[in-house]
Amino acid sequence: MRELGIGLIGTGFMGRAHALAFNNARAVFELPVHLKLAALADADTERAQRCATAWGFAQAHGDWQALIDDPAVDVVAITTPNHLHFPMAMAAIAAGKAVYCEKPLAVSLEQADAMRQAARKAGVVTRVGYNYQHNPMIGLARQLIAEGDLGDIISFQGEFSEDFMADPASPWSWRCEVGHAGGALADLGSHLLAMARYLVGDVTGVCADTQTVHAQRPAVNGSAEQKAIAVDDQVHALLRFANGARGTVSSSWLKHGYKNHLSFEISGTKGTLAFDQERLNELRLCRAGQDGFQRLLAGPALPGYAAFSPAAGHQLGYNELKTLEVQELIMAVTGQGADGTDFEAAWEVERLATAIRVAAQEERWVNVNSL
Ligand SMILES: NC(=O)c1ccc[n+]([C@@H]2O[C@H](COP(=O)([O-])OP(=O)(O)OC[C@H]3O[C@@H](n4cnc5c(N)ncnc54)[C@H](O)[C@@H]3O)[C@@H](O)[C@H]2O)c1
Repeated sequence: MRELGIGLIGTGFMGRAHALAFNNARAVFELPVHLKLAALADADTERAQRCATAWGFAQAHGDWQALIDDPAVDVVAITTPNHLHFPMAMAAIAAGKAVYCEKPLAVSLEQADAMRQAARKAGVVTRVGYNYQHNPMIGLARQLIAEGDLGDIISFQGEFSEDFMADPASPWSWRCEVGHAGGALADLGSHLLAMARYLVGDVTGVCADTQTVHAQRPAVNGSAEQKAIAVDDQVHALLRFANGARGTVSSSWLKHGYKNHLSFEISGTKGTLAFDQERLNELRLCRAGQDGFQRLLAGPALPGYAAFSPAAGHQLGYNELKTLEVQELIMAVTGQGADGTDFEAAWEVERLATAIRVAAQEERWVNVNSL
């Protein structure tokens, strides 16, 4: 069987999630290639070495360019802070390698545009880490919508909130920098926008409000030194979809009680579907005429689920969604699948997020296609 060499950059939250996903994908799916964990890079060389040993990578690099240049690497997975996605992805594309980049794609719409154009020109496969779409229950939601179970879609109400920045004493990080695509909209909201587009389709118009609630934060944990913060802590937006549906999206990283509240209600002329990532193995469905919602539980009849468990209701978790994402990446790289968010689709998410920012700044409706 042909080998496909994986190179992974970054060993933080997402670096570990990608490493688990590549290992798990080899174990649970009959892939058309053998995944070779060829190289791991991190700016911290000693950590790169330690994680490479623990996660099963053959080589460790302190310099990400050395990983991209490594002939054993065919696919470059990028899990570094957002401002590094552009130089790393562009270098990988220039080397003719497939790219699996974390979200959001870039720190500006111009960068995202250059990335999708470079990938298109080079003809390399690209994927972006909008992992929540790979949930079998989201697949079921998409199928119910496509098959007309909800009738004509008239409304999408979505929210992605967490509380990890709710304490004003939570310190500054790269997520607080405008130039690093920080803020609740880029960090959390981008997932919600990708989900809205995935389930309901293109968005044509937006009007929005963004707010920085805590205008300064400690420079480091416990420090008296304060740094000025300009990114949004919360965003609220109205959407008009190309198919005529109307919608709302909101995102906050200050909302006490929520840990991963990527949620939506989609209503059509014949029913309503509701989902919350904090209960990711469930969908709630109400068909017209029913007195209330029916709870649908994930099970092995849904594509993707049976690879992890033969029994319904035993539940998948976040890392399984990442594994399903990696499976789709590998199928795409081997020319056997087209599912997943590529740089073109991720650019659309960036364009929508940019339209929301412009609408909030200029206090007006913005035509998304004008950007
Ligand atoms: N898809 C998701 O659900 C999800 C969840 C969290 C984060 N993310 C995204 O993943 C990316 C990383 O976020 P994170 O939370 O894992 O961050 P993190 O801070 O935990 O990890 C970042 C890693 O990048 C490494 N790094 C930094 N500069 C580097 C360089 N020059 N060369 C090599 N390595 C370098 C750091 O050492 C660290 O290992 C971001 O783009 C973020 O938006 C996605």
